[in-house]
Amino acid sequence: MSSAAQRRAQVARLREAIDQHNYRYHVLDDPSVPDAEYDRLMAQLRALEAAHPDLISPDSPTQRVGAAPLPQFANVVHRVPMLSLDNAFADEEVLAFDRRARERLGSANELVYAAEPKLDGLAVTAIYERGQLTRAATRGDGANGEDVTANLRTIRSVPLALRGGAPALLEVRGEVFMPLAGFERMNAAASKRGEKIFVNPRNAAAGSLRQLDPRITAARPLDAYFYSLGAVEGAELPDSQIELLAALRGWGLKTCPQAERVHGVAGCLAYYRALGARRASLPYQIDGVVYKVDSRLAQRRLGFVSRAPRWAVAHKFAADEALTTIRAVEFQVGRTGALTPVARLEPVFVGGVTVSNATLHNMDEVSRKDVRLGDTVVIRRAGDVIPEVVRVLTAKRVAGASPIEPPRQCPVCGSAVVRDPQAAVARCTGGFECRAQRVEQLKHFASRRAMDIDGLGDKIVEQLVEQGLVAHPADLYRLTVSQLAKLQRMGTKSAEKLVAAIAGSRSTSLPRFLFALGIRDVGEATADALAQHFGTLESLLAADAAAVQEVSDVGPVVAAHVCQFFAVASNLKMVRELVARGVHWPPVARAAADAQPLAGLSFVITGTLAKMGRDAAEGQLRALGARVSGSVSKKTSFVVAGNEAGSKLRKAEALGVKLLDEAALLHLLKTQRPPL
Ligand code: IVH
Repeated sequence: MSSAAQRRAQVARLREAIDQHNYRYHVLDDPSVPDAEYDRLMAQLRALEAAHPDLISPDSPTQRVGAAPLPQFANVVHRVPMLSLDNAFADEEVLAFDRRARERLGSANELVYAAEPKLDGLAVTAIYERGQLTRAATRGDGANGEDVTANLRTIRSVPLALRGGAPALLEVRGEVFMPLAGFERMNAAASKRGEKIFVNPRNAAAGSLRQLDPRITAARPLDAYFYSLGAVEGAELPDSQIELLAALRGWGLKTCPQAERVHGVAGCLAYYRALGARRASLPYQIDGVVYKVDSRLAQRRLGFVSRAPRWAVAHKFAADEALTTIRAVEFQVGRTGALTPVARLEPVFVGGVTVSNATLHNMDEVSRKDVRLGDTVVIRRAGDVIPEVVRVLTAKRVAGASPIEPPRQCPVCGSAVVRDPQAAVARCTGGFECRAQRVEQLKHFASRRAMDIDGLGDKIVEQLVEQGLVAHPADLYRLTVSQLAKLQRMGTKSAEKLVAAIAGSRSTSLPRFLFALGIRDVGEATADALAQHFGTLESLLAADAAAVQEVSDVGPVVAAHVCQFFAVASNLKMVRELVARGVHWPPVARAAADAQPLAGLSFVITGTLAKMGRDAAEGQLRALGARVSGSVSKKTSFVVAGNEAGSKLRKAEALGVKLLDEAALLHLLKTQRPPL
């Protein structure tokens, strides 16, 4: 085949793939690949067409925005076409955009821009005639959209009539989206009913707005922000985009509160970084930032090319989902022996880094997602969390791909592996004999909220176990400076410091000590409750399961874990040895539980507290009798939301749990009385 023929064939293949993805994404609201994969195919096609313009045809996806309207909706011809935006991924592309705009405008000075979050929803246009909402439509292909008037009217934040002073004809454009709290609430309810859940808020918004029955739309938690204009008659509008947003708000239309005026390309990039850092705490999903030349006169002078304006660009965040294949699955052994399946991947660039491992959580997840060796999978990396396998593209599975089975023997120590019948976990039975469990247990023992041994990091623990210097936590208290100084990345100075830190950790509290032991299911809150209830280590050791179950919030499973732990001779020996090596704590101050002002209340703290550290806040709350836990549930009494609070805040909102800000928390600690 000639190279021209090969190129034609490649273009045809790309178009077919893109069309298929488009159809699933736009028409079925059921995307088959992550956006990043779609963007990659589009970029390839654009590059080929740019190098060989003779290959461009009117039906190419590069010549069309979005997909055709669903046949059931009435068609709406947009009086002013609905434009799309060019994407920029790297800073250089933004610099180039700014340079081009300044050149065209003949401007030697920096430009003023409006910077706005790029909302992840779907674009709509709404026409108000004499102040009344008369028509609303989706973007469709930019020239023709779908009539969704009845559906848009169901969104409470969209005014049916504008407030005074609005132009005779005002066509406003914006984004319909589903706020994260509503999205999570809706999916939780759907999965409870055993119904299909939405993949992401964008699809939930699109699927909700494009419903033939507006009653369904009305039941969905949709919202809309407006950000631009279509046809307008009978009004003088401000020249600035930012002021236009203010005018829209004046007429009762909702605009994005995070939109800001910024100066020059440096201002754009600073906004991008600041918003990127806050992304996880925003109540809605965004996939980038839009920069718009603020002056609307300058916008008109710049005009547009094809379907995108020269005066605006979308600066996208690094994709946090990508496609890759599973090379192998290995099992990691955790602190309590639980085996976590970890996928070894064909390395892939996602969310700004190269990822070659992703967690599969547990065997139930593996079967639920039906993950097999060699599968093509979607990987997600959100912020700094461990990358995970989201789903399998079963269509790409090679015949005979083998299912994943947990090993029968521990991959680290060879002990038998048991499968917990109630839980999803497979577990190594080696306990402290297993090197992996030993390492994890020691890391936990030394951690900040347990014995708080400063300087005993993961790498050092691994070396200590590797070299046989430490097998049990009690061995730590025997380490000498000369032993430690021989480790990698350790000098005499740091060895001395570490020995002092270990010695200092001897003086602790009973709750910390119990937490540090790493008993299954005994977190800080349970350790605290145990210490409060029993008062001394000896009375806890003397208790049977029934007695342990009397502790508030301790059920039969946790009680059994506590008793089983102390029933193992080597564990009891370790506890005795720790005490013999000088680990001690002051007597537990036991208040009569109900005499404590916050008894019976549970708190979750999320985000950063500016005035008091989280540890201090937790300590004071506990001292007043409150329980402090790490996860939000219906039973949580209050969620304290600091700055940059994220998913826990959203969950609290979704569950209707009462919220406190830091000021309210300080007030509460001072008055020792919970707000009503
Ligand atoms: S301005 C010419 N502003 O991004 C004006 N669009 O890729 C074009 N979008 O169709 C739209 N947030 O669905 C604009 N603050 C924002 C936006 C935004 C999200 C979407 C919108 C548009 C698409 C273009």
